[in-house]
Amino acid sequence: MKTNLSLANPAEVETECLTVVVLDRGEKDKTEVTVETGDNAVRDAAAEVIASGEVTGKMFECTLVHRPARLKAKRLLLLGGGKAKTFSAFELRRLAGAAVRALKTRGVRSFAFLAPQGIGAEDAVRAIVEGAFVGNFEPDYYKSDRKDQKIDALTLVARGDQARLAAALAEGLIVGESQNFTRDLVNEPSNRMTPTILAERARKMSQEVGLKCEVHGADRIKELKMGAFWSVAQGSDEPPALIVMRYEPAGAPEKPVLGLVGKGITFDTGGISIKPADGMEKMKYDMAGGAAMIGAMRAIALLKPRVKVTAIVCATENMPSGKAQKPGDVQIAMSGKSIEIINTDAEGRLVLADGLYYARQLGCTHLIDAATLTGAVVVALGYVNAGIFANDDQMYQRFARALDKAGEKMWRLPLDEEYKEVIKSNIADIVNSGGRWGGSVTAAMFLKEFAEDTPWLHLDIAGTAWMEDAKPWIAKGPSGIAVRSLVEFAKDFAG
Ligand code: BES
Ligand code: MN
Ligand code: ZN
Repeated sequence: MKTNLSLANPAEVETECLTVVVLDRGEKDKTEVTVETGDNAVRDAAAEVIASGEVTGKMFECTLVHRPARLKAKRLLLLGGGKAKTFSAFELRRLAGAAVRALKTRGVRSFAFLAPQGIGAEDAVRAIVEGAFVGNFEPDYYKSDRKDQKIDALTLVARGDQARLAAALAEGLIVGESQNFTRDLVNEPSNRMTPTILAERARKMSQEVGLKCEVHGADRIKELKMGAFWSVAQGSDEPPALIVMRYEPAGAPEKPVLGLVGKGITFDTGGISIKPADGMEKMKYDMAGGAAMIGAMRAIALLKPRVKVTAIVCATENMPSGKAQKPGDVQIAMSGKSIEIINTDAEGRLVLADGLYYARQLGCTHLIDAATLTGAVVVALGYVNAGIFANDDQMYQRFARALDKAGEKMWRLPLDEEYKEVIKSNIADIVNSGGRWGGSVTAAMFLKEFAEDTPWLHLDIAGTAWMEDAKPWIAKGPSGIAVRSLVEFAKDFAG
């Protein structure tokens, strides 16, 4: 999708469709619909349909006016943004996605979006561009009759400093494209997204944006004594990949170094503790955490914050086979800790244990991991919020700000010492499953043992990395959750 900026009068913008936000400024259950622009021509063009009572301003409501009077646009789309009181860049981002999705199915290929008043113009432009890219993504690659209905060009109509608006647009574009890059990776089925292919995709992208990228295979994984990672990989005929990407901009200080560690299980059968057949096909998205890190690195390399960032993706399948690990096996992690394997389906924490430890060895001073780690986080938070865990309040606070700016939802869950009880082993240092209760917390407690005293955040995205249904602003399928917040955090981290 091409994007461009227009500082013209909205009435003068020649476009297939000019989109404006309408809000409800009425008190309580009264509605009072307003068009969010200071431009009289646009308000006049909307006046009649609003007076008709047809427009309520409800979130995602679309009202299309053809040949709007005195506007050069062929159509005027009035897009409901809900109550004015609660309207923010978060809603605006979703509205932009909804506009794209509404218009592309109506055969429109290019349109303009008028930045609404009330949100800073640069923030608005960024949110609109990001949201538009999210809305434009479709996961139907393998349909022979795919319609390829896409928006090809988006014009942002805004008022303000041209250079700054252009910079905001450029940033939104990088972030939006990177989120979709991640979604592309997650969308692929496991036969087309093996650890080797994932590594190849990371390598190719790294070359394009100027990142260092190394990929290590089974020999090196064993040489590094990554016994936890290898214990998962050993069961598969598909070779594992330890993907290391480095962003080391000239002039960045030696420290801090941000480490991004991603779970890259390209298919999770559960291993010998095999999963039920029903729904197992979904386990192709068990590499969404790794894909989020790769997408975030793409954006970071292009946005160039002055801080070092290292990403590590532990990619492997989790398969049952004659070579697979079995319940009861004891594995020695890279850190030296011994792990009793209670359940081979708790494999994510095993690969991350070595990923986190390795990141620290590579000099990372702060860690963030992202993983589709537990079904339990879906029980706790559903499909709305991802779970976030932190061993450092300050780092959490900083990430919470990044979440807010990026418009992503995560809810903090606890890490009290008491939870450690259930991951104690009779014969080893730790077990890999704490059982059913508090499953996402005990999984995080396991990871904490490998982050040790390094400030660390853990994002459990099992419920949020895949949209179970289409929404007005996003297709059913991979969501690209965490990419935007990680990028925002890295920018903030650079100071
Ligand atoms: N990849 C799964 C978690 C998952 C579940 C992701 C649903 C996406 C949707 C993970 O490897 C897993 O199997 N976790 C187990 C842990 C248990 C055995 C302790 C789970 O959540 O059941
Ligand atoms: Mn599993
Ligand atoms: Zn898994």
